[in-house]
Amino acid sequence: MEEINILVFSHVEERHLARIREVDPRVRVTAVDRQRGIELAPSAEIMVVGWNVPEDAVRRATKLRWIQSVGAGVDSLIVPEIMSREIVLTTSSGIHQSVVEHVIAVMLVFTRRLHLALRDQLRRKWDRSRASGEELLGKTLGILGLGTIGAEIAQKAHAFGMRVIGMRRTAAPVPDVDQVVGADGLRTILRESDAVVVALPLTPQTRGLVGEDAFRTMKPSALFINVGRGPIVQEQALISALREGRIAGAALDVFEREPLPADSPLYGFENVIITPHVSGTSPAYMDRAVPLFCENLQRYLRGETLRNIVDKELGY
Ligand code: GLV
Repeated sequence: MEEINILVFSHVEERHLARIREVDPRVRVTAVDRQRGIELAPSAEIMVVGWNVPEDAVRRATKLRWIQSVGAGVDSLIVPEIMSREIVLTTSSGIHQSVVEHVIAVMLVFTRRLHLALRDQLRRKWDRSRASGEELLGKTLGILGLGTIGAEIAQKAHAFGMRVIGMRRTAAPVPDVDQVVGADGLRTILRESDAVVVALPLTPQTRGLVGEDAFRTMKPSALFINVGRGPIVQEQALISALREGRIAGAALDVFEREPLPADSPLYGFENVIITPHVSGTSPAYMDRAVPLFCENLQRYLRGETLRNIVDKELGY
């Protein structure tokens, strides 16, 4: 019986490894850190990875056929060592419900002005005019990127009675999105939206996409949300827009540089909510990622097409 060696570089519990072993008696699965991964790489046929690409392990893994990422965005995996070889790359797209809830949460916080009420509370201040909010009902949400996450944000936002418009590479219809535009419609989305959310992958096409012009096109009353990747946004242009009051606020989970340096001006705005790249984390995350991998592993063993295959040229 030919063994199938799987190296797991991401942090997983023993019960998750046991679940993977149950898929097939040929499966040998080992959780490794970088060093152990390099040692065991020559026998690996499959790797399960987090954000950090074990590039030196991949280099030594001459039998490697498939890399499963436990995340959604694979920009850090688009490296020459993986691009140039016939290694299939798959994502864990479809399990990011927490990102969707995060976006709804920050829209509610800003719309109901909870961020200001909380600051007032800490100062023992009662200011009804500052803390009086609005409603999501009837507002327009613009979603940049209508992949699985973007489409689910649309569905939830619709349930709040929002009008939802969005941009994707090809302007094909998406359920719960009232108007879909292609990349040439970016300014339309920015101009019409009360909240703009970036749910795009980082690719050569999206790097720096949201810059000075975008922030000048947005409504001064609009909220800007980024749960995609930091470098899609030109951070300096965002800081200037916030300084000059050209947008109403921002909720940022991702940054050009992570961790966001302590001297970043972004920390200083009352109308900015900063979260340290956690919108995708939840205790339930691996309980969804592991079954998704197991399903893909079954497909792999049966010689079927895997779920969530990345188009390496497109970068997602
Ligand atoms: C997190 O950023 C992910 O891509 O899953």
